[in-house]
Amino acid sequence: MKPNISNPKKSPFTIEAADIMHKLPKQFFATLVQNVNREISAGHDVINLGQGNPDQPTPEHIVQAAQAAVANPLYHKYSPFTGYRFLKEAVAQRYYEDYGVTLNPDTEVAILFGGKTGLVQISQILLNPGDLCLVPDPGYPDYWSGTALAGAEMSFMPLRKDNAFLPDFNSISPRERERAKLMFLNYPNNPTGATAPLSFYEDTVDFASKHGIVVASDFAYGAIGFDGKRPVSFLQTEGAKEVGVEYYTLSKTYNMAGWRVGFALGNEKIISLINQLQDHIYVSLFGAIQEAAKVALTASQQNVADLVSLYENRRNTLFSALSDIGWEAAKPSGSFFAWLPVPKSWDSAAFAQKLLEEAKVAVAPGIGFGKHGEGYVRVGLLSEPERLREAVMRIGKLGLF
Ligand SMILES: Cc1ncc(COP(=O)(O)O)c(C=O)c1O
Repeated sequence: MKPNISNPKKSPFTIEAADIMHKLPKQFFATLVQNVNREISAGHDVINLGQGNPDQPTPEHIVQAAQAAVANPLYHKYSPFTGYRFLKEAVAQRYYEDYGVTLNPDTEVAILFGGKTGLVQISQILLNPGDLCLVPDPGYPDYWSGTALAGAEMSFMPLRKDNAFLPDFNSISPRERERAKLMFLNYPNNPTGATAPLSFYEDTVDFASKHGIVVASDFAYGAIGFDGKRPVSFLQTEGAKEVGVEYYTLSKTYNMAGWRVGFALGNEKIISLINQLQDHIYVSLFGAIQEAAKVALTASQQNVADLVSLYENRRNTLFSALSDIGWEAAKPSGSFFAWLPVPKSWDSAAFAQKLLEEAKVAVAPGIGFGKHGEGYVRVGLLSEPERLREAVMRIGKLGLF
């Protein structure tokens, strides 16, 4: 019998989303992506500096390790629920070699499906509806998503240029200190490109332990520090493990954003809660990916050093071009972003729109990262130096500086 596809009878069945779905924040950058795609479809050569997707391929030795591991029948079975011990040992070894931090692979390491998943999960395991979470502003929007899913509230910690884009704990009110249960920090910082000194983390541990606030340190750009300075890990601070965890990811360090490998490291109780939640949602990552991730962490780290030089070289090219057109800005000390002030009398969204329409250059307006991101645009160092230079020259021709 032919299916009657023109049946006018309306289905009585309606799908209604749970209330929590309406609480999820709007994805600000979705509109930007649409606008960029529109320009590209119209045939324009858009230089897209608005995104944060590493442009280089994963190093060959990691890809080869994965290719060989795919053929191993062991990995065709379910992997152990909390992941393979060899991968936890590998990340513990890397932290010891790079930061002098000792981690117990069995109790102080959780394997995650990328950092993003972990950063959303931590609100689920620690926050009840109505609890307060301290979030950097400007900041990575996924901190908002997890807090919203937990039904918790957010209080924003402004990151200002005159405080080196670090939050000022003194300006957090007594009421907020008392209510807050969780705080997100992120250095090297997206979007400002700032890094944090050890003294800041010492203050953080003091503040957090005094007020009973768990610290989630997002170290996604931990490997990317410029001018010969390796960024400091939160876990290097005495007492850090008592008050929090650090999130680490292979996405940026090894150009493995598509592979989805991340870690939570530190406080035993939090690690066991993460494992408990994950037990109910996932079986761990594909074993072959875990093996390749182990190779990334334990083989020679020369590729990482080369990648940092590549970004530093792009940063220097960008800033020399900016100076040629009279656009004054401070160089980032880490991450692969530059945080550039917009000319006076412009707001960040209108400025970004002007660059897209008239220079065919896409940048991310600061307002998308929070109220205190207004007045800036974020530029990624994820294009070749010639393209960065050309983008700035096109902007220079608009005569705004
Ligand atoms: C600040 C920050 N944290 C975390 C992540 C998440 O990285 P992933 O989920 O790829 O590990 C990103 C990715 O862009 C980021 O910018």
